[in-house]
Amino acid sequence: MIRAWKTNKNNSFPEQASSVASLNTDERREEMIENGKGRYSYQATLATAQKVNWRIEDIIGGDKRLDFSKPFMPESLARVEPLDFLRADEKRTLNQIRGAAYLGIFGLVEEFILPFVLDHARPQLQGDDYRVRALLQFAGEEAKHIHLFKRFREEFKRGFGHDSAVIGPPETIAQAVLAHDPLAVALTILHIEWMTQRHYLDSVEDDQSLDPQFKSLLKHHWMEEAQHAKLDTLMVEALARGRSAREIEAAVEEYIEIGMLIDAGLKQQVGFDLDAFTRAAERDLNEDEKDQFRRAQLQANRWTYLGSAMTHERVLATFGSLSPAARKRVEEVAPAFC
Ligand SMILES: [Fe+2]
Ligand SMILES: [Fe+2]
Repeated sequence: MIRAWKTNKNNSFPEQASSVASLNTDERREEMIENGKGRYSYQATLATAQKVNWRIEDIIGGDKRLDFSKPFMPESLARVEPLDFLRADEKRTLNQIRGAAYLGIFGLVEEFILPFVLDHARPQLQGDDYRVRALLQFAGEEAKHIHLFKRFREEFKRGFGHDSAVIGPPETIAQAVLAHDPLAVALTILHIEWMTQRHYLDSVEDDQSLDPQFKSLLKHHWMEEAQHAKLDTLMVEALARGRSAREIEAAVEEYIEIGMLIDAGLKQQVGFDLDAFTRAAERDLNEDEKDQFRRAQLQANRWTYLGSAMTHERVLATFGSLSPAARKRVEEVAPAFC
């Protein structure tokens, strides 16, 4: 559906292939980087991931059902309350549609994260054993998350009783994103991983009004994404190594370009959500109400998928570690998505 997305750029990792596989112990130690309060390593991250590991069957299916009498998304992301022409039950319906879109959009982004992480691991199989295992664990978890989001969408369709479309198809979006400079893609993935952290910790964890099953999905996803955020910080570090200031600047511009592609997708998603709402609520909004819906929901989507990450301190810290100019560029762009 997103036809304008670009394709056809080289998607290989030549610098990685030649440099990372031959790292000695001291160079590997250098990869344990300082980032904000944390010091990340492949070994420690793998150990945590192995402790966290959960099964889809423990989260959804059987008696674990979605409760459609409750909201699925925290209000800070859904932003349905300002739409005061909607009744309380209609706001909840829209909130649930946003929840379904969240499942779909996360499913989409994970479909480009998975091949990217595999491609990043592939040239390094002879290197640090912990690195290889941590990256394969990362990829395996993303494959599981894709499956998890699909299972929740099936449950949603069954219980909600109406169609709600999501942007796609995933292969087209993956192809368009992966056509960019690997460092720009790694920065985008970093953005997504920290975004998941922020959504759960800032908005979901303490919200007792949410459907427990949907909240459990967000919690379990967050638990594994916490390791991904660290590993992606290390991936960015590896891909940025040896680059000139100009090359870093170009990669940051490509990251912003990917952000604009996502933004175009979000505009389309708001249209889908409006259609789904109209069908589910059996209510035709007038032109002024539609306009308010589109404006408020576009900004809600922008905050959810772009602004909440672009203002995340750990994301900004990683951009700052590339160069002060890189951090400044993201800080300049972010307010449009907040
Ligand atoms: Fe994930
Ligand atoms: Fe992830």
